[in-house]
Amino acid sequence: MNEELVLNNGVVMPALGFGVFQSPPEETAAAVAEALRVGYRHVDTAAAYGNERQVGEAIRGTDVFVETKIWVSDYGFDETLHAFDKATRKLGVDRIDLLILHQPAPDRFERTIAAYRALEKLLADGGVRAIGVSNFMRHHLTELLARADVVPAVNQIELHPYFSQPDVQKADAEHGILTQAWSPIGGITFYPGWGEQRRSVLQDPVIGEIAGAHGRTPAQVMLRWQLQHGRSAIPKSTNPGRIAENFDVFGFELSDEEMGRIDALDRGVRNGPDPEEPRDIFDRVIPED
Ligand code: A2P
Repeated sequence: MNEELVLNNGVVMPALGFGVFQSPPEETAAAVAEALRVGYRHVDTAAAYGNERQVGEAIRGTDVFVETKIWVSDYGFDETLHAFDKATRKLGVDRIDLLILHQPAPDRFERTIAAYRALEKLLADGGVRAIGVSNFMRHHLTELLARADVVPAVNQIELHPYFSQPDVQKADAEHGILTQAWSPIGGITFYPGWGEQRRSVLQDPVIGEIAGAHGRTPAQVMLRWQLQHGRSAIPKSTNPGRIAENFDVFGFELSDEEMGRIDALDRGVRNGPDPEEPRDIFDRVIPED
């Protein structure tokens, strides 16, 4: 059974979603089909991943919660309304369950706000069931909320035991925003070379010990930790064994002590990009089809 979360506007969302960041387009449809086969009912993609079309192929005719993201080059009011049309066309859906801004664009925050106003319109018109943001830090949320009418339902952020962003989580909670974890098992190494000095949390001895005690894998323990904290998580895999492994997390429970030990692993160091820094790829154009 997949646990469900109720968003701040009453929409129900399966807590554990299937992620497709860095899934090559040619492998994405098969991975999503496999995820649906083993029970996932929530898929998270993004215009910038270049695989919305393949997600669309796999979900056609199914009843699955679809989440996608507007890329920065499509920020602005009219641009974002148009980006919604692009996304629905590629996904082959009339309505998107959860549409979020991929990240704040510090070098063009006015356009970020205008993009969010467009999400509000899509929500009012019924094109989307819920709206949100991604990679927003506390001050981005404060600045957005000063100008917006609708509180985001979700803030999707990098979140794993080595980087759990307690302050952003707190800000989310203060505003009634659900925190959703990307890279929930810390599996993605963003920058080539970074991984050489970095120990993956998948190899962490504390996680390993807790996994051993439950006869589970480190990834399962981390996903359980995410869910027991009331968060949504969207692990990515293109490997059928790991797709199934990452969904098999509803049959055991971590103790308070184990949860606390995992909480204490935070090192405050990102694997992914810093939302405060503009990036070259902000200007990458999202194709029409
Ligand atoms: P793969 O697609 O080959 O399974 P995250 O979503 O936390 O960023 O993790 C995604 C990364 O971790 C991918 O490289 C993925 O590779 C790998 N991965 C996914 N599930 C597991 C798992 N259960 N155990 C180990 N590695 C995993």
